[in-house]
Amino acid sequence: MIEREEMNVPNIPPSTGSGSNTILSPSSGDNEETFEVGLRPQTLNEFIGQNDIKQNLSIFIEAAKKRQEPIEHVLLYGNPGLGKTTLAHIIANEIGSQIRITSGPALERVGDLAAIISNLGRGDILFIDEIHRLNKTIEEIMYPAMEDYALDIIVGKGPTARTLRLSLEKFTIIGATTRLSLLSSPLRDRFGVTHHLNFYTDEDIASILKRSAKILKVQIDENAILLLSQRSRRTPRIANRLLRRVRDFAEVKADGCITSGLCEQALELLSVDELGLDQTDRRILETIIEKFSGGPVGLNTIAAATQEEIETIEEVHEPFLLQIGFLERTPRGRTVTPRAYQHLKRDIPTTRLL
Ligand SMILES: Nc1ncnc2c1ncn2[C@@H]1O[C@H](COP(=O)(O)OP(=O)(O)O)[C@@H](O)[C@H]1O
Ligand SMILES: [Mg+2]
Repeated sequence: MIEREEMNVPNIPPSTGSGSNTILSPSSGDNEETFEVGLRPQTLNEFIGQNDIKQNLSIFIEAAKKRQEPIEHVLLYGNPGLGKTTLAHIIANEIGSQIRITSGPALERVGDLAAIISNLGRGDILFIDEIHRLNKTIEEIMYPAMEDYALDIIVGKGPTARTLRLSLEKFTIIGATTRLSLLSSPLRDRFGVTHHLNFYTDEDIASILKRSAKILKVQIDENAILLLSQRSRRTPRIANRLLRRVRDFAEVKADGCITSGLCEQALELLSVDELGLDQTDRRILETIIEKFSGGPVGLNTIAAATQEEIETIEEVHEPFLLQIGFLERTPRGRTVTPRAYQHLKRDIPTTRLL
């Protein structure tokens, strides 16, 4: 795969609000991209977990290759850090296509998009990250581009304006989004396949950690792998980040192999507990327990009471707390579950035991 030079677009702003919580934030931070690129699997075989998606993709890719046809448009959605960007690169790599990278917020003007897609060759891939953040005008240009491989451009102004239809090569769009519900249905409908990336199992995270340790030439024992995998919020990006932090810690505090004892010390310093919860997660749960008797309470109220941004709660903390069964979403708001009370060593109110 030949990766063309990244486009001359402004940096993609992080999709989450505050950057206060960097260690467990599933979004990548400053300087992290370079580190991540080195750990990125290049082939479907190297990509760990998500077996259904891998099987589907491999058939889909093989079939397209046999027919010598460009692949259909692919939509990948899932929480940050689960492997959407990685999969987009893998697809391009497996097909042997060129990939160009952009994002919803970077495509501000129609001209930006027109310049990019009119330069795509047959079978080339355009990866649009955060595709839910495309503006309406651009989105409307995308419909005929994706469906009929045509670009409708308006030339001139006022009564003399006319539409010019340019034909495009048959290309493929791979869209990635953390928020499927924010994608308009006409846009969603134009993707031939949609894959939802789920949180990983602890076993898969352990395999990812082993693979990364090998690449980084970090010596780490089995118990330490186990410990880190339980605290990585089932998210590869966080697993790799914790590994990097523990490695730093080991370089300063010890030499040789990373042990579970060392990991425990490092994670304590980072305030990450044995389930991967950080201070903000705990504060959210404790606030709901103390101020709202465990809920139900609305997201806006939680945000105001914890002084966290709604987006941060919605994209960083809530998905994981829901996933591990510490929060429940009800029509009347969020409720803390008995499991969370136990984890926080709180007495469970009798009403919650029913
Ligand atoms: N299935 C996987 N196997 C191995 N590493 C993975 C896997 N999924 C993600 N990663 C690693 O996690 C990091 C974040 O993945 P990325 O594709 O950037 O996530 P997203 O685009 O969904 O936010 C990358 O360094 C990548 O190498
Ligand atoms: Mg990404």
